[in-house]
Amino acid sequence: MTLLDFVRYQKHLVGTKIGCREGDCGACTILVGESCDDKVNYHSVTSCLMPIGNAHGKHIVTIEGINGTNLNIVQQSFVDQGATQCGFCTPGFIVALTGYCLNDHLPTRENAIDAMNGNICRCTGYKSIEKAATSINENLKLRNGQDPLTFAIANNIVPDYFKTIPGRLKEIKSINKDSEKIKKVAGGTDLYVQQHDTIVHEELDFILDNSLLKGITQINNSCEMGASTTVSEMAHSPVFIKHFPALKNIIKLVSSTPIRNMATVAGNFTNASPIGDLTIFFLALNAQLKLINGDESRVVALRDFYKGYKQLDKKPEEIIEKIVFELPDANDKFNFEKVCKRTHLDIASVNTAILLKMNGDEIMEGSISAGGVGPVPKYLSAASEYISGKKISIALIKEIIEIAQTEISPISDARGTEAYKRLLLSQLIKAHFICLFPELDNKKILFI
Ligand SMILES: Cc1cc2nc3c(=O)[nH]c(=O)nc-3n(C[C@H](O)[C@H](O)[C@H](O)COP(=O)(O)OP(=O)(O)OC[C@H]3O[C@@H](n4cnc5c(N)ncnc54)[C@H](O)[C@@H]3O)c2cc1C
Ligand code: FES
Ligand code: FES
Repeated sequence: MTLLDFVRYQKHLVGTKIGCREGDCGACTILVGESCDDKVNYHSVTSCLMPIGNAHGKHIVTIEGINGTNLNIVQQSFVDQGATQCGFCTPGFIVALTGYCLNDHLPTRENAIDAMNGNICRCTGYKSIEKAATSINENLKLRNGQDPLTFAIANNIVPDYFKTIPGRLKEIKSINKDSEKIKKVAGGTDLYVQQHDTIVHEELDFILDNSLLKGITQINNSCEMGASTTVSEMAHSPVFIKHFPALKNIIKLVSSTPIRNMATVAGNFTNASPIGDLTIFFLALNAQLKLINGDESRVVALRDFYKGYKQLDKKPEEIIEKIVFELPDANDKFNFEKVCKRTHLDIASVNTAILLKMNGDEIMEGSISAGGVGPVPKYLSAASEYISGKKISIALIKEIIEIAQTEISPISDARGTEAYKRLLLSQLIKAHFICLFPELDNKKILFI
């Protein structure tokens, strides 16, 4: 079952609300604390998509679990700012913002708003909630480099019993077992939306916390990343931060904070959505997938992984163990663009990534990918081949756009007409060049 059903129907903790059951509204937000060295790190997740099998060895905190004798600073600021009306969304917001107080993000307006970008309110119009969230920062500024959890306990943001959690979690044995069960669940953010009614009756193998599928390591100029790396782990990894300077802004375009805390990179590849953001990101990087099945293993390029709509070069028993790719260096230029109907919690109408290996103004090697423009996430092989070995110019950008248009086959659907998606891809290719080559005449690019 999902953790939401467990806390409400088994534990009768009904402060955690049920809204959409699809990860969209945040009414079911809880905190998950995980041991790391001698500390416990907390992050918010949507409990409606978290299988209880992923809770093993973790501290699960519902709204009831943060209640002390008095209101904490988050609860009090909601009262002070009138940030609650019907109250249905309120526990989700309070839990998300309490999670924000437990991590070491700088207390800025941007970070406070980001912490609750997975929560929806139908009543307040958000302004009072924004004021409540940002007023918490005044208190957090007093932290001055102290450990966030220690500060939170000392300032009654969370109750005293949080002190006992690191010791209690240590007593729980981790499980890293080989399982015969075919159905693999990582973060569950895709499976529990698409197959909720059937999956709760299946035998599942929970691979999110399998240590063999974790970790991000740089080896010379390449990176090896465990398949169960979550989007948040990738975003906070020093290797990624160093080699993808624009990553912070890119990641903000991918779902919302609580979904990113659960969603894995391999889950994104394997659900085979033609618009998977991470798939498009890693297609441009020519990522290689190491697939394992017991003692057997083989390597498949992500570019060759997709055989047709939702068809993969993967046997049911195979799992992705690792993702390996070359890290961009100082001469390389990388960019990702996405258009969707709203900024947070939305999947793309069209998305695209580009990697250019430069030597002065010459493109030694180019690689462009695009999503939402065909039945599979697309590596634009003809456009990529054409651009390689050419000098950067406005004329070249025009030619790339024309070639890219011959490689795609978008269909009209809820995210736009075929013509609109064609137009979007052209505009996003221009956006790549405007972003990567500010010295070029932007107006000329726009009017190609
Ligand atoms: C509200 C919401 C917003 C979203 N927004 C976005 C968005 O903006 N952009 C985007 O790209 N996606 C988005 N998604 C989709 C989803 O979050 C991602 O695709 C995510 O990366 C899936 O990963 P997961 O670990 O949760 O997958 P799961 O649901 O656990 O698994 C998905 C599939 O992958 C398989 N699988 C997982 N790991 C492995 C492995 N190591 N080897 C083999 N098979 C494996 C599973 O068996 C399953 O078939 C959103 C989802 C929700 C609910
Ligand atoms: S119930 Fe809406 S996000 Fe979980
Ligand atoms: S106060 Fe009613 S939904 Fe937010």
